Amino acid sequence: MNNNYDFNVKRKRPEEIYSDVSDYFKGEVLKQYAASKSMMKTQEKITIRAIELLNLERDDALILDAGSGPGFTAMYLNEIGYKAVAIDLISSFLNYYDIKELNPIVADMCFPPFKPNTFDAIISISALQWIYRDIKNEQMNKMLINLSKSFFQILKPDSRVVIQFYPKNKKILENIGKIIAKSTTFHGNFIIDNPNSQRKRKIYLLLDKEL
Ligand SMILES: C[S@@+](CC[C@H](N)C(=O)[O-])C[C@H]1O[C@@H](n2cnc3c(N)ncnc32)[C@H](O)[C@@H]1O
Repeated sequence: MNNNYDFNVKRKRPEEIYSDVSDYFKGEVLKQYAASKSMMKTQEKITIRAIELLNLERDDALILDAGSGPGFTAMYLNEIGYKAVAIDLISSFLNYYDIKELNPIVADMCFPPFKPNTFDAIISISALQWIYRDIKNEQMNKMLINLSKSFFQILKPDSRVVIQFYPKNKKILENIGKIIAKSTTFHGNFIIDNPNSQRKRKIYLLLDKEL
């Protein structure tokens, strides 16, 4: 990321209004999200970019979809031949489409219930902003530390994590990088697609667990 690059999203995002993600994704909002074909297409596009960034060597890699929602990413990964495991906090998201065939797990991605060195890769699409969005919030700080340590542990050596998310501003993005660098030995960087378009901008965090 270019050091001079800056951004600050003015519009209030749902995670600023609802402190708990399950207070937002429930009832009609949850149903509409899960049933939306345009959302499915958008999230698939992000997934395709995330796969490109993962640069996987194995065609049958085992990939964790962390914060899977209704499973747009996990299902796509499965369709193209990867083995996917989906986890999400909200159990009613995990009843949609064919995701049931993937045996999705209701779990907090900050405390993923897997053995060390399990996954060839981890993808998380549009979820991290629910976990960390306020630099003064000590609890969020702790959850992010836990998430990064856990991701490091459950990932095989010489593997990569790709996290796409929507930070509100550059300060939050930078803090996320600092916290992860302090709590793990991940090597990471941010990739920003369409940096000059607020609508099209997509931010990806790449984290490498080296050999
Ligand atoms: C905007 S949705 C994105 C869902 C899906 N990744 C997609 O691309 O459609 C955000 C998801 O993150 C999940 N989430 C937020 N915090 C989480 C946590 N701590 N552990 C697991 N899932 C979480 C929410 O339950 C929700 O399903």
